[in-house]
Amino acid sequence: MGFKIGNIEVNNKLVLAPMAGVSNSPFRLLARNHGAGMVYAEMISDKGLIYKNEKTIQMLFMTDDEKPMIQQIFGSDLDTMVEAAIYIDKFSNCDAIDINMGCPVPKVAIKAQAGAALMKHPARIYDIVYEISRRVSKPLTVKIRSGWDDDSVNAVEVAKEIERAGASAITVHARTRAQGYSGKADLDVIKAVKEAVSIPVIGNGDIVDGPSAKRMLDYTGCDAVMIGRAALGNPWIFKEIDAYLNGDPEVIRPTVDEIKTLMLEHLYDLVKLKGEKLGVLEMRSHGPWYLKGIDNATSLRKELVRAKTVKEYEDAVHAFE
Ligand SMILES: Cc1cc2nc3c(=O)[nH]c(=O)nc-3n(C[C@H](O)[C@H](O)[C@H](O)COP(=O)(O)O)c2cc1C
Repeated sequence: MGFKIGNIEVNNKLVLAPMAGVSNSPFRLLARNHGAGMVYAEMISDKGLIYKNEKTIQMLFMTDDEKPMIQQIFGSDLDTMVEAAIYIDKFSNCDAIDINMGCPVPKVAIKAQAGAALMKHPARIYDIVYEISRRVSKPLTVKIRSGWDDDSVNAVEVAKEIERAGASAITVHARTRAQGYSGKADLDVIKAVKEAVSIPVIGNGDIVDGPSAKRMLDYTGCDAVMIGRAALGNPWIFKEIDAYLNGDPEVIRPTVDEIKTLMLEHLYDLVKLKGEKLGVLEMRSHGPWYLKGIDNATSLRKELVRAKTVKEYEDAVHAFE
């Protein structure tokens, strides 16, 4: 059984997280092909978009096979965020638009006062969501954290404002900005948000397998779960969790050959999208993720993080048995 966001039907409860530098078109497609019901695109800057920064515009690339897909933006100024959302509404084939209110990195949350910094200003959140949701035709969703820090856990208050302002769904990464990625995601925060609003709530944080997904769904009552880090080098996780939720607890890990095939598919798609230099560079990070837990892959990992060309990457992968 799936869930619905506005008019978007999602055929299961599993969503790929937006991850900067990762959740681009090739990775989203891998996730969809391996059982993600819906995918989020990595965040793009509102200002980059409206000033037509070439790299930002390229980040809008998507294919219909990824759908349902939600494009995320980040920013802090009402006017430029509205303008960017209208641009996406008109020119992107994505199914919905998401606003990032959770990014903790200093460049976004401190310098630009965007991402998680917005959590400190519920009234501003209301204005941003209200203005955007009435100006675009696609559903609007928002991704938040628990709060700014331990002394200001305000996800429930913020979620109510987001709903009142017209959003169609909320994702809660149940950590504060101060926590970054440390500590544990607090399921009680997701539960409290779910109880406080009637729009769909997607729970997020620390899902690594079937049991952790089931625990979050059961304990919090959330409508779906979002998976980020555990999908790195492991798009198979979506099928694994889906099977578990449907009563099949057996974990079938991909064989080394299947992993090698997928790595090369990912490589070719990235190179097609970004060119050889950038595509291979990006695959340098994915290599070790794909090989996590595989014995005797130490020297392959080292070769992959040094590869400069498709041929070097391919040769190293092919040579591994
Ligand atoms: C490499 C990386 C990049 C991320 N980029 C974004 C982003 O662009 N937008 C966003 O809302 N969250 C971003 N996140 C946070 C994830 O979407 C997610 O909330 C977080 O990783 C917790 O989920 P997990 O425990 O399943 O990884 C990123 C996380 C990682 C690891």
